[in-house]
Amino acid sequence: MALSRPLARLARCPQNLAALQAPVHQRRHFASPPVTQNATGSKGPTAMVLLNMGGPSTTDEVGDFLSRLFADGDLIPLGRLQGYLGPLISRRRTPKIQKQYAAIGGGSPIRRWSEYQAAEMCKLLDKMSPETAPHKPYVAFRYAAPLTEDTYAQMLEDGFGQGRGGRAVAFTQYPQYSCSTTGSSLNELWKWRNRLEGKRGSGEVDPQGAIKWSVIDRWPVHPGLVEAFAQNIEARLAEYPPERRDSAVLLFSAHSLPMSVVNRGDPYPAEVSATVYAVMQRMGMRNPYRLVWQSQVGPSAWLGAQTADAVHEFIKKGQKDLVLVPIAFTSDHIETLYELDQEIIGETGLDSVKRVESLNGSPVFIQALADLAKSHLESGISCSPQMSLRCPGCTSERCLEQKKFFAAQQAQL
Ligand code: FES
Repeated sequence: MALSRPLARLARCPQNLAALQAPVHQRRHFASPPVTQNATGSKGPTAMVLLNMGGPSTTDEVGDFLSRLFADGDLIPLGRLQGYLGPLISRRRTPKIQKQYAAIGGGSPIRRWSEYQAAEMCKLLDKMSPETAPHKPYVAFRYAAPLTEDTYAQMLEDGFGQGRGGRAVAFTQYPQYSCSTTGSSLNELWKWRNRLEGKRGSGEVDPQGAIKWSVIDRWPVHPGLVEAFAQNIEARLAEYPPERRDSAVLLFSAHSLPMSVVNRGDPYPAEVSATVYAVMQRMGMRNPYRLVWQSQVGPSAWLGAQTADAVHEFIKKGQKDLVLVPIAFTSDHIETLYELDQEIIGETGLDSVKRVESLNGSPVFIQALADLAKSHLESGISCSPQMSLRCPGCTSERCLEQKKFFAAQQAQL
């Protein structure tokens, strides 16, 4: 039987293969330089793993990206027909989506931005939290390279886990928690943790020697995040003449959710609303605003009002100064660069309809990431109390086991 990709990657080096084939108690020494886990007076090194959905870096990667995306029942619940409908929809959509990526320069910038944010955050953390240094940056995407399994395998190659212990933080880059996004990424991380380090730490690897995980699972109203959004909004508002500046309507736009997910009790709509309200408070409630939702796919009911409809209706009513604010993603991606910029704003033909820059390389934002990470490491908690609560309508065994696993990591920290 062919090895799965991460296992194949670990096995590429003969010494690694020997390590994989060795009895558990002998699986201690991989060929890559070991990470020192027990330096006197140090809790480091610490792996900082930024989780996100990811995007295809080239148009050739679009097909694989879409097939993973539509196979994920946590993100797009298609029920028992997932295995049939998922590949069908992704195959049908691939040529259209490839054209969209071609129109934004041939691929998504999300990997570049995520790797930059992770590296810059770790540089700050090394200074701010020397006791948990060095902080090693990783990115784990759900649907595009670097995939969760490849990042996990890389961490093992770098000397974390596999009998050597070590500390890792799964840091969601979705500030507002949804079971479709952060939940899905954590389900995937838990799955690969079991496959690569033994089932719930009680199988192939002694729990003491497995990677000790904690999770930053949500941060919708972190002051640094709020400040970074507010500064970018103020910069865009400054482009309007002073007499029109305070009456421009702010349209906060977040990725929508199917109503089946909302009605299951997903926390995302409430947490996105919390971010919007915190940003508006920071800005002195000067401008009128609405929260609207974008990127609906397929014929089922999704959370609205839809961003495109809202822009259209406001303009029809005579409100032409509109500022779109992407509020639920931390870097540019197809939904900002194509859907908002080219489709929605482009089609208005109006210079008075603008979009706020995404957080991308904002130093305020990267400082916020480092502040969050430092507080998390100091807190000694494995995940927030909120993460252990399942949605009232959740029937997923995967959710249940994943939440149990991350909560139980508390005993290891
Ligand atoms: Fe929300 Fe399972 S769907 S916890």
